[in-house]
Amino acid sequence: MDIENNVNMNESQSSDVATSKPARGKVEFEFEDEVDGAVESSNVEEDSAMCETEDTTVVAGDDKTSADYYFDSYSHFGIHEALHSMPDFLQSSVLIHASFSMQEMLKDVVRTKTYQNVIYKNSFLIKDKVVLDVGAGTGILSLFCAKAGAKHVYAVECSTMANMAQEIVKLNGFSDVITVLKGKIEEIELPVPHVDVIISEWMGYFLVYENMLNTVLYARDKWLVPDGLVLPDKASLYLTAIEDADYKEEKIEFWNNVYGFDMSCIRKQSIAEPLVDTVEQKQIVTNSQLLKTMDISKMGEVDTSFTAPFKLVAERDDYIHALVAYFDVSFTKCHKLMGFSTGPKSRATHWKQTVLYLEDVLSICQGEAVHGTMTVAPNKKNPRDVDITLKYSINGRHCQASRTQHYLMR
Ligand SMILES: C[S@@+](CC[C@H](N)C(=O)[O-])C[C@H]1O[C@@H](n2cnc3c(N)ncnc32)[C@H](O)[C@@H]1O
Repeated sequence: MDIENNVNMNESQSSDVATSKPARGKVEFEFEDEVDGAVESSNVEEDSAMCETEDTTVVAGDDKTSADYYFDSYSHFGIHEALHSMPDFLQSSVLIHASFSMQEMLKDVVRTKTYQNVIYKNSFLIKDKVVLDVGAGTGILSLFCAKAGAKHVYAVECSTMANMAQEIVKLNGFSDVITVLKGKIEEIELPVPHVDVIISEWMGYFLVYENMLNTVLYARDKWLVPDGLVLPDKASLYLTAIEDADYKEEKIEFWNNVYGFDMSCIRKQSIAEPLVDTVEQKQIVTNSQLLKTMDISKMGEVDTSFTAPFKLVAERDDYIHALVAYFDVSFTKCHKLMGFSTGPKSRATHWKQTVLYLEDVLSICQGEAVHGTMTVAPNKKNPRDVDITLKYSINGRHCQASRTQHYLMR
């Protein structure tokens, strides 16, 4: 993707990039100068015993692994929903947590600066337009639009953060331009029949986790004028493959033998839960494959479920322990194409990447390929969760394997 002013393109990742251990569980938004992400030399050994050939299925268990997981994984959406049914004394402590989550998003400069640059550097898209901000949070995108000369901005936020947004709008002197509406997009009445522009930061982990895209599509179909604008208007999901022996051993294989006891039932569950984490550039073994591009201005709701084929070709001899998904978003109606990537070669964002560990360790030689398909769909029981089915096969010199794995992102 050739994107102008991509805040994170071609910049280094975190300062941990030069260390051999992945920087698991943290994203740093302060960056040092370019670090050489030099690829380590081949470490392939002829160990075909590592490549199983059976076709097995692993299904995610039903229970959450921990409350922490829930809050860490997507508090900035889920928490708002839960708030409505809580007593006041609990709401205030949860609100503090919500504001931390908002702060994490606002401090993600790749994300927030890209929106700001899109709006300020392309004010012709916004000036004198009626704008709908879908999921306004603190109202930051509405404020950018107001400052860029929007005729009026409707900032819709379903959580109690709407009260803060209202106050923030007033504090900054934009009460006559921005109207904050507290409620779900699907339930509110907008004071106008149409809007010219819809702006939203709806992207979840693995792009579609939390399923907020459907809320944007709902708003688009209900209120956007026929030649109206959706910002951003394109999102693409990609897949690549990584070497990740240390972390897989430490976190997944650990359960095989715990002080002499077999706890592999927990291993089954942990491998079926995609891990949101940062991946180092030097771990990448193959090319990246585009799985799906979504055109937010045209697509229908059903398009959020898809099956996409992939072919990942090894760029060096190595082992593959996991496939890694990440996304780009772009704003194609700007003077010059603008957007950002959440990929491992780009500057880190709070979305990190999504790691799907494989049952098999695949030893692969340069030029060989892992073929397969990835199927993505909202979970039937909880449509905010995502079911992912991965089918992969390799028929290489040292490794033949074929398998189907099921993952649940929650
Ligand atoms: C990722 S945050 C973005 C917040 C803000 N726009 C920003 O860029 O900092 C998405 C927000 O959308 C809100 N939201 C999610 N679903 C919604 C819905 N159906 N109607 C209204 N707001 C919603 C969430 O509560 C959350 O505050």
